[in-house]
Amino acid sequence: MRILVINGANLGLLGKREPAIYGTVSLKEIQQRLKKKFPRVRFTFVQTNSEGTIVDRLNKAFDGGIDGVVINPGAYAHYSYAIRDAIAALSIPVVEAHISNVHAREEWRRHSVIAAVCSGVVGGFGAMTYELAVRFLVEREK
Ligand code: DQA
Repeated sequence: MRILVINGANLGLLGKREPAIYGTVSLKEIQQRLKKKFPRVRFTFVQTNSEGTIVDRLNKAFDGGIDGVVINPGAYAHYSYAIRDAIAALSIPVVEAHISNVHAREEWRRHSVIAAVCSGVVGGFGAMTYELAVRFLVEREK
């Protein structure tokens, strides 16, 4: 099974960025944990601060070779209709993931423009959020 894990804006700073909110685990460590926890999954990891690159990567998944996507777009989740449309174009499952509990934070974080076109949303569980999202994709394949 091939899973694409996309992290968007500012998520390359995980581990150092606002640790009280996002924890102290780096993105690299999260990726290593996923590989260890799901040895049979072939992961592709993408982190970019660019909205267009996220759209490009989702469009590429449209051409095949990927069975599911986990996406934490960062703040783009709250306003990027371009990412929303790119997800809507896909027929494979896409899970929206957030490290923090966005519902317990500022009002503007409570709305996601991508949630409605995703299979599900998981958030608030720190680094474990990604494992829960991947678990859904793996179990669903069985
Ligand atoms: C985030 C939540 C977003 O609101 C924020 O802009 C981020 C990270 C999270 O993982 O909790 O950059 O997506």
